[in-house]
Amino acid sequence: MRIDILTLFPAMFAGPFSESIIKRATEKGILEIIVHQIRDYAPDKHHITDDYPYGGGAGMVMKPEPLFSAVESILGLPPLSRDNCVLPEAMQEGMTSPSCVSAYTTVPVILMTPQGRQFDQHVAHELAAHDRLLFICGHYEGVDERVREHLVTDEVSIGDYVLTGGELPAMVVIDALARLIPGVLGAEEATHEESHTRGTLEYPQYTRPANFRGWAVPPVLLSGHHGEVERFHQTESLRRTLRRRPELLRRAELTKEEEKILRKLLKG
Ligand code: ADE
Repeated sequence: MRIDILTLFPAMFAGPFSESIIKRATEKGILEIIVHQIRDYAPDKHHITDDYPYGGGAGMVMKPEPLFSAVESILGLPPLSRDNCVLPEAMQEGMTSPSCVSAYTTVPVILMTPQGRQFDQHVAHELAAHDRLLFICGHYEGVDERVREHLVTDEVSIGDYVLTGGELPAMVVIDALARLIPGVLGAEEATHEESHTRGTLEYPQYTRPANFRGWAVPPVLLSGHHGEVERFHQTESLRRTLRRRPELLRRAELTKEEEKILRKLLKG
């Protein structure tokens, strides 16, 4: 997968993407992450990327020209305008707006903003299925509305709180989707049993020693009885979800066996 990121602060990405699993994935060639300085696409000699909002109000707004130029240049699109904006008839899956870009390319252009759709594991899977993505990290008080309306195909938020910019949210989203790309995680780091993959929280895990300062590992885990261990995992995963995030159970994909366990837990 190739990921392009547009930002005013490229240096912020250096640390997280040059360590651990993401680093390994880029070295293996499974993932290519290219960070672009938005300022480089500003047409004026001072490389201005923001301006005062029309009508007044607090803060600065990111100008449309550098963002349109950057996306057009990176994706190899003609200069988009009202005259050549042909909206596709059907919205592609995962698209929050049928932007002009989507008439020329299937690459999602994703604006990171607290106003976007809420990111979760389902969205991570959806994005991980693409072979190319482009992220725009917003800053200041926001971006010119024409960027939202005509350039981006998707707007994503990582939660109902406001950060200083879209850089950290983009890193969160990219980290979560990258580990779902086949080959990024080793077999020993599989994703199928972890929290949220099937809509429930993961069961409690233990490692050696079997007894730590008097706190013993549940004996069933030492029994070597595969069926009972499996049942323990299912029961504890459901118990934990019920206690901590009961709302997740409405959307979870439960097997008949898990439904039976859940009914028993609900009875107390
Ligand atoms: N930019 C600022 N806050 C954000 C959030 N919560 N999600 C995505 N982008 C943001």
